[in-house]
Amino acid sequence: MGSSLPNPQLDAQGRLRHFLTIEGLSRDLLIELLDQAEGFLGVAQQAVKKVPLCRGKVVANLFFETSTRTRTTFELAAKRLSADVLNLNISTSATAKGESLLDTLRNLEAMHVDMFVVRHAAGGAAHFMAAHAAPHVSIINAGDGRHAHPTQALLDMFTIRRHKGDFSRLRVAIVGDILHSRVARSQMLALKTLGVPDIRVIAPRTLLPAKVEEAFGVKAYHELAEGIRDVDVIIMLRLQRERYRGALLPSEHEYFQLFGLTEGRMGAAKPDVIVMHPGPINRGVEMDSAVADGAHSVILEQVTNGIAVRMAVIAMCLGNQRRADEL
Ligand code: CP
Repeated sequence: MGSSLPNPQLDAQGRLRHFLTIEGLSRDLLIELLDQAEGFLGVAQQAVKKVPLCRGKVVANLFFETSTRTRTTFELAAKRLSADVLNLNISTSATAKGESLLDTLRNLEAMHVDMFVVRHAAGGAAHFMAAHAAPHVSIINAGDGRHAHPTQALLDMFTIRRHKGDFSRLRVAIVGDILHSRVARSQMLALKTLGVPDIRVIAPRTLLPAKVEEAFGVKAYHELAEGIRDVDVIIMLRLQRERYRGALLPSEHEYFQLFGLTEGRMGAAKPDVIVMHPGPINRGVEMDSAVADGAHSVILEQVTNGIAVRMAVIAMCLGNQRRADEL
């Protein structure tokens, strides 16, 4: 995972310009983003849910893949920072006539867009745009293929910190389709960077990447009860039906019997365990509705927190983060 190449997310002064992946970001920078997000949570409680930090900036959402939570929370985050927001409708845009990603970038840059928030089915799409963007333009990765979903991981860390405080004593289990999950990759990197000592991944062997333990410093389990024993946090992942082909699983019914989270099975975890899921949930496949909607679930908090965390990322990349004394 380590590299001696310069981090493509940082500018010449070492400041965050793009937000493409958790890989290569320091613990201090992640903590600074989490602290900034803490200050932005209160904006939603104001009579006018806006601060003027990014007034005059233009943020374009380019979502080449479907999204509910990420696209809307990025839009709200940019609007709460007083930026102007363009939502390109990909199905009615010139992409449908064959325009390349690079030409789309160049044309929107010609309209003085300052930031692109990009979701794409191809891993590396956001890095590609960052490599070709004009010097004043920032690229935010809103999910690329199986590779990375860094703002999801950051909002998950924010939610964990709000409930559990110190990362250095936590046991965290990530359950489900690790193989196809960009969220899991970003979460494992973030948990590691923030110093979580016990990170577990729980999945059938067919849904775990090869050498996941060595690559990410985690421990793999193939049995739910054993994997979630005494954990503080359970992160359930969606079965990515659109990304797996062939017989990786006998059936979703069997998957639920072995890996689905129920109130009864949660008894193996700590009594104050929190249950998370990035969404969208397949109810009755990854977890029972009683768990998804139950007292341990923080799934909707994750969504709310996503706005504040994305405000922090947008503001920092545009060079407009709040000073500590303003928070
Ligand atoms: N968690 C997440 O990325 O959800 P969406 O696909 O709805 O954006």
